[in-house]
Parts: sequence; C-alpha cells; structure tokens
Amino acid sequence: MKVPFVDLKAQYKSIKEEIDEAIQSVLDETAFIGGDVVESFEKSFADLYGVKHCISTANGTDSLYIIMKMLGIGPEDEVITVANSWISSSETISQTGAKPVFVDIDPVFYTIDENEIESKITDKTKAIIPVHLYGQMCQMNKLMEISEKYNLPIIEDCAQSHFSEFNGTKAGLFGVAGSFSFYPGKNLGAYGDAGCIITNNEELATKFRMFARHGALKKHHHEIEGINSRLDGIQAAILSVKLNYIHKWTESRIKNAEFYSKALSNIRQIEIPKVRNNTKHSFHLYVIRAENRDELAAHLEKSGISTAIHYPTALPNLPAYNYLNTNSEDFRVASKYQNEILSIPMFPELNDDEMTYVTEAIKKFYS
Ligand SMILES: Cc1ncc(COP(=O)(O)O)c(C=O)c1O
Repeated sequence: MKVPFVDLKAQYKSIKEEIDEAIQSVLDETAFIGGDVVESFEKSFADLYGVKHCISTANGTDSLYIIMKMLGIGPEDEVITVANSWISSSETISQTGAKPVFVDIDPVFYTIDENEIESKITDKTKAIIPVHLYGQMCQMNKLMEISEKYNLPIIEDCAQSHFSEFNGTKAGLFGVAGSFSFYPGKNLGAYGDAGCIITNNEELATKFRMFARHGALKKHHHEIEGINSRLDGIQAAILSVKLNYIHKWTESRIKNAEFYSKALSNIRQIEIPKVRNNTKHSFHLYVIRAENRDELAAHLEKSGISTAIHYPTALPNLPAYNYLNTNSEDFRVASKYQNEILSIPMFPELNDDEMTYVTEAIKKFYS
C-alpha cells in the first residue's frame, strides 16, 4: 500500500464538478483579477469566521508583511516570534527592516513558550507574532496579558490553524490581525498561491487593503506606495467552493488524529501530540516525536508511507540567521526537537485502512 503525505487529488475528485464549474465561470466572465468572485469569497470567509474584515492577498507571506508594514514596523524595531516555524514568520520581519527576535518553543505543545517572551522584550520591541503551529493554538491568555502589559500588538500567524479555537475563540481573532495562507496543502487550500488577512479594526483593514493594492483603494488614486498582493479570480472561485466543506474536513482531520493517537499511545519510543485544554486543534499536521526519527522515516518510506519534517532546522539555527549571532542554547527545546519531530500522513480523506497501515508500520519498526 502507498500512503501519500497529502492527497490533493482525492479532495479534488470529491468536489470535481463544483470546482470545474466554478473555474469555468471565471473563464467565461474573464474575471481574472478582482471583481465579484473575489469580493464574494472575502465576504463568505469573514462571515464564516465571524470577523468584520477579510482582505485577500497573494499568499500568507505577503499577509504578514502587509500587517507589519501597516503597523509602522521598520528599521531599528524588533519583532518577537517563535524558533520553530516556516521561515515566512521571521523573514517578513526582516523584510520590513526590523530584527526578528526568536523565542524557544514550549516542550509539550511545540508553540511559542509564553513564559520566555517577557525576557526578550526590549524598548525596541514593536510586536509579537505567535504561530499557531500544526493547528495547535498558542497560550493566548498569557499572550494577551503580555500584549496589554507592554502595549504590544499581537499578529497571529494562522497559516496552519484555520478554524482552530482557544477557549471558544478562533485563531486570528485575538490579536490586531490574523494572517492566513491558502497554499494548496493548507487546511483551506487554493490551486496556487493565495492568502488573506482578517481583522475587526476598520482603520487597519483599510490600510491593509490599500497597501496590498499598490497603495490605492480606487484605481490611479495612490495615496501611498504599496505592493501588488491580490487574490486572483480562479483561486477565489475555488476557495469559495471549498469553504462549504471546511468544517467537515476539519472534523475529519480531528477524527484521524484521534485514530492515530489511540493506535500509537502505547509505543514508548514515541510522543504523540498533546492538545491544549479548552482548545480545538485543527490538525493541519500530525506531528510525533520519535526515537531514531531518521531511521523510522526511512523505514516508513520503504513501506510506501510518505512523511515530512516541520521543520528540520529551527529558524535561529538556519544559515539565514547567522547574522543574528544567536546561541542554540537559547533555543534548547527547538534545537533538540528538530531532530525528533516527524509529520505522518494527515489529510481529511485518509481512511482507516491507510491509517492502520501507517500505525502498524510504526509499531513494527519499534518491535
Ligand atoms: C506558519 C506559516 N506561516 C506563513 C506561511 C506562508 O504562507 P504562504 O506559503 O502562503 O506564503 C506558511 C505556509 O507556507 C506557514 O506554514
């Protein structure tokens, strides 16, 4: 049996007619950029999310950059983020001219260690970017407490946490803005690059939209210089169809995670993911920590099971950040876990036979 890491084909097949029709209608209308289909997606996403404004962008990296630029972050500033994430969380800080300041991860939940944030705050700190990694929410009570105490805006990186919740509030609704990616493999994925920003702050929403559209809300009325970060019509049409299924797909991910956790819980050499109390983990990824991780991954590959590592090198340990002269001792947990974490296949359409095959192959490796 072969078990892919993600099966985008299975999902496409399950909604093929609707998707094909949606794409065809954009072609018929030649509504390639902007227009009703994009506006309609923004409105549907905002309504389903329960937020006032959704500003579509070209990708989740742009979303983070746009938010920071419109908060006035730039050279001489510092922005705090987490040591284990995709590089967009930190490279966008550098893109503004500011300096990324990394905080280690929590040893149990793998998100930013909320107890280490305050020691990294200086008078140059201008914002904090928590990342709800793998679908797991950060400790938002503590983060909001820090935000209020130091008057620092929170920018939530929700690229991996569509519809995750902390104490009943969805990811992206705690801070000044939430940044989303609709990269194809994400929980809500387009068929190309796509992203959005959500916020309840009208003034910021206007700024985000203006900056993302060349600094103009009306054609040729450039009030500032901006960037070109637009969602195209075909992606908006695809995302609008998929939005009708997101709750069902999220529930399937959670059920699949329960299946895995039950089957793997008794293997001594493995740490299964723990879900924070009173939260909804949307299981973008199912990440275990495993003894002899690389050998296990090779064994699974030989058995036809694809795995991945999110991420093989903690951000401060990447050559890209040599210039910060950080000490890996400051990121002890992230530096240790980068050699232990393994993401096993996770997508809504996974069936029991496939998951049994995966868990049996893991058990066999350790037997
Ligand atoms: C945590 C995180 N932040 C930001 C991004 C950037 O999103 P995009 O690939 O749409 O630019 C991603 C996805 O790749 C991500 O996983």
